[in-house]
Amino acid sequence: MSERRRLAIRGDLLDLVDDPGFGAVDTPAVRFDADAWLLVEDGRIVGRSRSDPGDGWQRVDHRGRLVTPGFVDTHVHMPQLDVIASYGTELLDWLNTYTFPAEARYADAEVSRAGAERFVAALLAHGTTAAVVFPTVHKVSADALFGAAQSRGMRVIAGKVLMDRHAPDFLTDDVAGAERDCVDGIERWHGRDRLAYALTVRFAPTSTPAQLDMAGRLLRSYPGLYMQTHVAENRAEVAWVAELFPQARSYLDVYHRHGLLDQRSVLAHGIWLDDADRALLAATGAQIAHSPTSNLFLGSGLIGWAALDAAGAAVTLASDVGGGTSLAMQRTMAAAYRIQALQGVRLTAWKALYAATRGAARALRLDDEIGSLEPGRVADLAVWDWAVGPVATHRDALARTLHERVFAWMVLGDERNLAATYVAGRLQHPRAG
Ligand code: GUN
Ligand code: ZN
Repeated sequence: MSERRRLAIRGDLLDLVDDPGFGAVDTPAVRFDADAWLLVEDGRIVGRSRSDPGDGWQRVDHRGRLVTPGFVDTHVHMPQLDVIASYGTELLDWLNTYTFPAEARYADAEVSRAGAERFVAALLAHGTTAAVVFPTVHKVSADALFGAAQSRGMRVIAGKVLMDRHAPDFLTDDVAGAERDCVDGIERWHGRDRLAYALTVRFAPTSTPAQLDMAGRLLRSYPGLYMQTHVAENRAEVAWVAELFPQARSYLDVYHRHGLLDQRSVLAHGIWLDDADRALLAATGAQIAHSPTSNLFLGSGLIGWAALDAAGAAVTLASDVGGGTSLAMQRTMAAAYRIQALQGVRLTAWKALYAATRGAARALRLDDEIGSLEPGRVADLAVWDWAVGPVATHRDALARTLHERVFAWMVLGDERNLAATYVAGRLQHPRAG
């Protein structure tokens, strides 16, 4: 029998055991073990120890650093690293001016391959080990993304983008061709290693009703498929959807009518929703991938997270690069805090961290694989310096409570705090050699 691969990582272990809810700074949902060893065998967490587990283990000493589950980014665009930080537009102009021209380049296999490598390396360099990703309309871009994720053992959910209208010719597909590409992609990638296929409707305006029907049909035909799209991000977009789909009760209802809402549906944004929409999300089990840096940058609006929470709808956190301005989930969490502060709601570090780890795992129905430091979970981990630079270091030293400390890490930290990223117990950042 081959020997077990045994890894022990020493540090301050932090994860959430449950949804901490809004407002509670002292909560049993937080699990914190200062200076403990996290034990990993053959890529899975098997337990923790207060003391050195001994010679049978490869021991990595990150004493004085924070160890968390790897982040889960529930909505991000692979090709949009090329347009992050583009000036001066709201959503619909931003798509036409910057995003569509940039995405056109990914028709080329080499552009897609290089872009996918750059993108997954960047996720890992931000402590993100799992992601729900938009490539482009081109099948080759989805294949490149899956291949790059597979070679690192990552949990990635993606699929070629569906868009058969209201976009430049060089960026549109058609129903039959898109269906063929999806079926090929599903058969090649879905359920292989840690990959899953998502029917990826860009957003309602860029798909014909026939294409939405096709996506709904496929969603019901293969078990475990995901659906990802955008919803109710921007007021001009919402008005356009109302014109295009006059029979639908709301923007969200367009997707519901086409059979696209279920417990594996991931809808980015969800700013301009009403009570009936929130109830529909809760009833179907679909989640909102809240993308705060994007919502601020594109001037899209302020999400009512507390109302979604109260309705029982799942809200997870997402970078939405390149509408979003950073892959760092600390920056994402800190932006989410600001958006709630503008509405008089307090987002604790615990609630934010939950939405970027275990809450995302739960909403993706992957709670038994990722999102926590629970025994049995795959060892997707990030190791962080508590503070980088004189200001954060000073603030960290003055923190009196654990929440104060983690909140300062969340507000002042980013990828510069990252010391190491492990995927299934293997060091993936910084890469060896
Ligand atoms: N809606 C449709 N496509 C996009 C996109 O690429 N980014 C964002 N933020 N919203 C969208
Ligand atoms: Zn997006």
